[in-house]
Amino acid sequence: MTPRRYDIAVIPGDGTGPEVVAEGLKVLEAVSGKKGFELAFRYFSLGGKHYKKTGETLPDGVLESIRGCDAMYLGAIGDPDVPPGILEKGVLLRLRFELDQYINLRPVRLYPGVETPIKHKGPDEIDFVVVRENTEGLYAGAGGILRRGTPHEVAIQESISTRMGVERCIRYAFEACRRRDRAKKLTLCGKTNVLTYTFDLWQRTFNEVGESYPDIETDYVHVDALCMWMIKNPEWFDVIVTENMFGDIITDLGAMLQGGMGVAAGGNINPEGISMFEPIGGSAPKYTGQNIINPIGAILAAKLMLETLGEPEAAQMIERAVMKVLQDDLKGAGAGQMGHSTSEVGDLIVEFIEGE
Ligand code: IPM
Ligand code: MN
Repeated sequence: MTPRRYDIAVIPGDGTGPEVVAEGLKVLEAVSGKKGFELAFRYFSLGGKHYKKTGETLPDGVLESIRGCDAMYLGAIGDPDVPPGILEKGVLLRLRFELDQYINLRPVRLYPGVETPIKHKGPDEIDFVVVRENTEGLYAGAGGILRRGTPHEVAIQESISTRMGVERCIRYAFEACRRRDRAKKLTLCGKTNVLTYTFDLWQRTFNEVGESYPDIETDYVHVDALCMWMIKNPEWFDVIVTENMFGDIITDLGAMLQGGMGVAAGGNINPEGISMFEPIGGSAPKYTGQNIINPIGAILAAKLMLETLGEPEAAQMIERAVMKVLQDDLKGAGAGQMGHSTSEVGDLIVEFIEGE
């Protein structure tokens, strides 16, 4: 039998991206060896450094090469010297849109051994997933600016929601909820009291799709109240589904609940195509090259990638190793101080995997 083989587009990117990606790749090598599949890493140079050198954001040729891969593994893109919007729109959003990665999946789980800023809440209470719509809303880029720089200036930024886009996202969320072994509850997060057009469409679609999932309890919460409940009663949530901008905001809040940006991971998912996995911490320019940034977020992004590629055993192996290292070696990592360097954390995780 020929071993299963996956081509992975690796984009180390800017700042601390390359440092955390290096640890993720070490871990991926270790589990693929154990579980008998092959990973071929194809490196692509994208991001601020590349843009400053060449003036290119995402060349068409690179996009075409990425289309030939099975998944993408991204460190971080962002550079303090590049004006806001260029890399975000030119690289990240363009990848999401061109590859139709219509789900942004962000698990919020507090692992044992990690501190949360929320007093009296622990791993039993903080374990939910946010399914964020990833190709529409305010991110669609509709609008424009008129008479710029004059007293009569007008700026319009419109939010686009399509029945197709909303429905596929909601369907994905119901399926994800069914697969999870938790409360089987899906919460729609919106703002029906003010954004009466957008969330009329969302709420109707949610109700209609929900009819096919009688096993899933449904709930609705306004986004502002959701921010409050996420802190006060995070245990109320199993899966949350929401539109793009709200999802962006509530998942930064979620990252803090689970111990900080250093441990949070996400996936930009096209269930029928090529998905992109990343730590959600950003490029952290201040810490670049110091070997001090937490690579757990990048390692958990690798775990999400393997799950999506259909390698659940290897994914679980990574998770067991992460849990062991968080519990035994990095206790209190959420507070920011790891007590270990970036590469030591990767080594500890690899060591545990090799010993299994
Ligand atoms: C994220 C980021 C991006 C977003 C930016 C960098 C475009 O904040 O992945 O959450 O807003 O989606
Ligand atoms: Mn964000």
